[in-house]
Amino acid sequence: MKLVPIDGVLHLTFPQEMDLAPFAVFFDRGALDFKRRLGGRGGGHLIYKAIGKTRCRVLDVTAGWCRDAFLLASLGCDVTAVEKSELIFKLLEDAVTRGQSDSDVGKILTRLHINHGDGREFIEREQWDVVCIDPMFTGVAKKGLNKKESQVLQKLGTYSSDAELEALIDLAIGHSERVVVKRPLKGSLLRANPVAQFKSGSTRFDVYKGVDRGTIDKGDSERR
Ligand SMILES: C[S@@+](CC[C@H](N)C(=O)[O-])C[C@H]1O[C@@H](n2cnc3c(N)ncnc32)[C@H](O)[C@@H]1O
Repeated sequence: MKLVPIDGVLHLTFPQEMDLAPFAVFFDRGALDFKRRLGGRGGGHLIYKAIGKTRCRVLDVTAGWCRDAFLLASLGCDVTAVEKSELIFKLLEDAVTRGQSDSDVGKILTRLHINHGDGREFIEREQWDVVCIDPMFTGVAKKGLNKKESQVLQKLGTYSSDAELEALIDLAIGHSERVVVKRPLKGSLLRANPVAQFKSGSTRFDVYKGVDRGTIDKGDSERR
């Protein structure tokens, strides 16, 4: 795999796999076209319900293509997103640079701060309102990502064991008011005792209570 600029856009190319076309990230088209995605119903998104509040500080420790992070930023959250894969991060960085030249997308991007590194380290840096965790899982394509996005993510993304993810959730619980974990609908709980779950289609968000500072709404979830 190689990063190559094509017509001013950084693409990931797959010289060994002729059937895979070059891949790039865009914040203003496809699944991320926020105008189409929001369409005046931002509050209807499941992740919005799981977060419980729009104007809060969110740490997304599993940035991926920043679909969720960008959506949260477009809903008014201030989002710090961390991605471990250097190739994914470089594609994101290029998308952010291009997106800044569009006035609508650029406004949203002022609330999205992307970082290359291990999300674990960012959790410990400060107290967050919300920490979001969307771990890699094998098998089913990720909801919200198109086939190509899922395919490339499966190749580049960092996988963790369930034990590592449970420890990550525990760490986040100690450094935030709320921890939101995205799971496949029928996926196992990565940690016991979520205080709420939000389900739709093939996706589930498990919500864990962190340190109570009183700034997050309790939400109207299906409580457990
Ligand atoms: C399933 S994807 C997240 C998709 C993302 N929610 C989106 O909307 O595009 C998981 C991503 O988290 C990254 N990742 C996994 N563990 C990480 C860690 N400890 N720190 C930073 N990134 C991590 C993987 O490399 C992968 O890109």
